[in-house]
Amino acid sequence: MKGSIVDAIKDLVTENFGREKWEDILEGSGLSRATLFPVMEDVEDETVLRILESLCKVLQLNLKEAADAFGEYWVTVYMPKVYKAYYRGIDNARDFLLKMDSIHSKVTKNIPNAHPPRFGYRWKNSKTLIMEYKSPRGLMDIFIGLIKGVGKFYKTDLKVSKISDTDVEIKFP
Ligand code: HEM
Repeated sequence: MKGSIVDAIKDLVTENFGREKWEDILEGSGLSRATLFPVMEDVEDETVLRILESLCKVLQLNLKEAADAFGEYWVTVYMPKVYKAYYRGIDNARDFLLKMDSIHSKVTKNIPNAHPPRFGYRWKNSKTLIMEYKSPRGLMDIFIGLIKGVGKFYKTDLKVSKISDTDVEIKFP
């Protein structure tokens, strides 16, 4: 995965828990305390997962709590800084989520080795969207955490629930 994912995790941890904790997390995942992750470089998926596991241990969070924290940080803090353009002209959570499939296919088009997740959409009724997560990585908790982050960013009280291994149901107010 892109180094930006780990860079965001690093910022989230250092801003909220301090640099020492971040270095503990690196050490706990078998890396040097000074490891850097350039945003455009590839990081093995396995390394990202080891870092997440170590984060859960060091910060005493379960995977769902860590995924929610990451999702909120990525969508409300990190992305608005790095990829501001993708937010331009979108003023609500529905439209933002509906753009995620094309954004993921575009953002990684010129990046070798990127395998972005893709998304499918189906409206159950005017307030209920079924969003399908298509990725061999199977990071369902992170997918859900990111959707909750979109709700936070647009101050929309949306409810997300997992309805199968690939699908979530999103209820808008
Ligand atoms: C402007 C907002 C966003 C941008 C620019 C963005 C971009 C990216 C990038 C560059 C990656 C790494 C892909 C790779 O290395 O192969 C990624 C991963 C991911 N993104 Fe986003 N993302 C955004 C918001 C979201 C949202 C709102 C969701 C959920 C609805 C989402 C779901 C995911 C998931 C689940 C992954 C992990 C990789 C996987 O499952 O295969 N992203 N995203």
